Amino acid sequence: MHAAPHIAILTGGGDCPGLNAVIRAVTLALVRGCGARITGIERGFHGLVARRVRPLATADVAGILAQGGTILGTHNRCDPFRWEGADHSAAAMDYVRELGIDALVAIGGDGTMQIAERFQQLGLPVVGVPKTIDNDLPATDRCFGFDSAVAVVAEALDRLATTARSHGRVMILETMGRNAGWIALEGGLAGGADAILIPERTFSLQALAERARERESVGSSLLVCMAEGVRIDGEAVVREHVADPAASARLGGVGAVLQQRLQPLVGCEVRSTLLGHVQRGGTPTAFDRVLATRYGVHAAELVAAGRFGRMVALQGDSVTSVPLVDVAGRSRPVPADHELLRAALGTGVLLG
Ligand code: F6P
Repeated sequence: MHAAPHIAILTGGGDCPGLNAVIRAVTLALVRGCGARITGIERGFHGLVARRVRPLATADVAGILAQGGTILGTHNRCDPFRWEGADHSAAAMDYVRELGIDALVAIGGDGTMQIAERFQQLGLPVVGVPKTIDNDLPATDRCFGFDSAVAVVAEALDRLATTARSHGRVMILETMGRNAGWIALEGGLAGGADAILIPERTFSLQALAERARERESVGSSLLVCMAEGVRIDGEAVVREHVADPAASARLGGVGAVLQQRLQPLVGCEVRSTLLGHVQRGGTPTAFDRVLATRYGVHAAELVAAGRFGRMVALQGDSVTSVPLVDVAGRSRPVPADHELLRAALGTGVLLG
């Protein structure tokens, strides 16, 4: 790569806490490390279709470390390879060449990595950074944003626990996570849930009702943390069907369905709370700020070294990188023998 490269950054998919911390770290490390010129692409890959970019100088990233959301905006539907009935990828590549962009840092989840990989094949060198509160990208132990979402779930459970105890109720908290149970599992453990229901395990309504009746018989309450992707009678509960056949249906509402099913089987009252986008907003935790900064600096190092077609990753305690093709379009459910499941079972949590 020549002396002062021109590097683009975009944030794609749903937002999450820590995106700005990555933008900041990539910008600072590339400007400081190789005097790079940085361009922010607005609203994810949509910016390449709509031709919307802005320069990013070090002054633009000052004070954004702890800011939630993304200063560049994002888009969780636009795939330039098939957007509004047409393939815009060639026009997007023309725009990239017009701007004189040497490489792209794409911050996002599985969909973003898949699109990034396709642009890499068209000749745009790419480095990926794994983001999603769902924590379901393969080849990395952590996506940034996950820890912040878990902290919100834990706090919500703490709050639900006191009201559940006061009324002797079953309280159900529905978390996000799409088809992966990471948020519900780790959030449920952190918040002391009595039952944790995740899509990777089938659950028995009878066993849950029995646990609730046991609690009721001793004048106690029951706290249930369940992922939005849990299936009831083999069916996911869909909040909204999306017209685009390639897009996932919007999940949501399984907690309310469980409430209806459980209520006739127990004597106490059952209530449900849908936590929703509260999990995705707000300031990142200290852990996510540090992880996002480590990821951003490592992405900048990959760019400076000309090591493209890779995604930064956390393996154990080390930040490393993996081939983008190993990640693109794939997801990582909670493995059946995961240590977090053993921790839950070991402390008497009902897992299904
Ligand atoms: O992938 C992140 C996520 O927050 C999922 O947990 C959730 O199912 C989905 O995005 C919600 O998407 P939207 O913001 O489009 O409703």
